[in-house]
Amino acid sequence: MRSADLAIRNCNQIITSKGPAPKHGKSMGELSVIEKGFIAAKKGKIIEIGKESEFNQKVRLEKKGGEIDGTGMTAVPGFIDSHTHLPFAGSRENEFGLRIQGFSYQELAAKGMGIQTTVNATRIISKQELTSLCLERLDRMLVYGTTTVEAKSGYGLNLHDEIKQLEVLKDVNAIHPIDIIPTFLGAHEVPKEYKTRKKDYINFLTHSILPEVKKKNLAEFFDVFCEEGVYSLEETKELTEAALKAGFKLRIHADEFVPLGGTELAAELKASSADHLIMITDTGIDKLASGSTVATLLPGVSFFLMLDKKAPARKLIDKGVAVALATDFNPGSSMTESMLFILQLGVYSLRMTIEEALTATTLNPAFSLGRDNRTGSLEPGKDMDIILFKAPNYQYIVYHFGINLVKHVIKKGKIVVKDGIIETRR
Ligand code: NIG
Ligand code: FE
Repeated sequence: MRSADLAIRNCNQIITSKGPAPKHGKSMGELSVIEKGFIAAKKGKIIEIGKESEFNQKVRLEKKGGEIDGTGMTAVPGFIDSHTHLPFAGSRENEFGLRIQGFSYQELAAKGMGIQTTVNATRIISKQELTSLCLERLDRMLVYGTTTVEAKSGYGLNLHDEIKQLEVLKDVNAIHPIDIIPTFLGAHEVPKEYKTRKKDYINFLTHSILPEVKKKNLAEFFDVFCEEGVYSLEETKELTEAALKAGFKLRIHADEFVPLGGTELAAELKASSADHLIMITDTGIDKLASGSTVATLLPGVSFFLMLDKKAPARKLIDKGVAVALATDFNPGSSMTESMLFILQLGVYSLRMTIEEALTATTLNPAFSLGRDNRTGSLEPGKDMDIILFKAPNYQYIVYHFGINLVKHVIKKGKIVVKDGIIETRR
């Protein structure tokens, strides 16, 4: 008999997403499901999960403990959004309009729009204003079920503003219930003042910004946009080598529009993640299948940019790759905070099964962020990070699309969203 300070009882279904992590290929389809179950926690950690009929033998709820009625609901691990560009200023709906008229994302970037527009806006905003923008966005993430998020810099592209973005992430991490894992993306674009001397920027980035980020301990991961017109494969090698030397783990924006071989490089360097992969080649797929790098697919991008081409999720899974899904939340190519929508796109657009898409939004992204020991699945010893959906079963979460079915969210054993509303905002 274990004593608990929080229990969710009578859940119609519990999806545990039980490990070991990561799940590769076919095994992504193996969700472990408990019908009519309970989850009990103590001090923010899960201590027992089981059948409701066994609750009284296994758990004693403390007098002051909380009890949540899960009747008619489905419990799922809190979503892990492993790719976002959270700290930016401004918005780019004007570009969106131009794209509807037929201009491509790359054409607009070549005209000096795109990332550079957001860099201009992010450079002039104060730290305080950027902080409140991030908090608003994190609130939206939370009401759609995200409990852990990776967040990249990359709209400063100079020492002061890259550090500013990362410091904002550190501050909001201390205030907001969502756990934030910071990534330094100083190689997101070549800043306009260095357009004709990219080498100088790479030098400045590796010799000045990178050491400062490390010294201040502001990022765990290093990322680079390996893409035609941005950073070539050779430049990506130079940048990642410097980052590895400085002690960063890697994530790489790879093979989004042109297959430059970023995926192969990510696999060779044992990067934690290779992201986008819309244009991945068969060689890239084979490299991922035989390695430890997670393929992070961002179906919001093909949707938002209205591209016919999509990341080959089916092929990746059939070849045995470990796949994750993330929002890529950013103002230019995927303006959504909702992991619930991304889960649905994983099925509707990438043709993943519902089971695979659930693994790809929980256990696998937790692994790619090095947090699978704490979160990403509902197992004793892990953080009590849970979404309760107003849904009789997990299939219903994808089936009833375009609305928010999230009823409650629990983060580290605390109810942070109740009846769809953020608790601190009540
Ligand atoms: O992941 N691909 C590079 N970066 C972002 C887009 C950023 C922007 O357009 O502002 C992405 O899609
Ligand atoms: Fe991105």
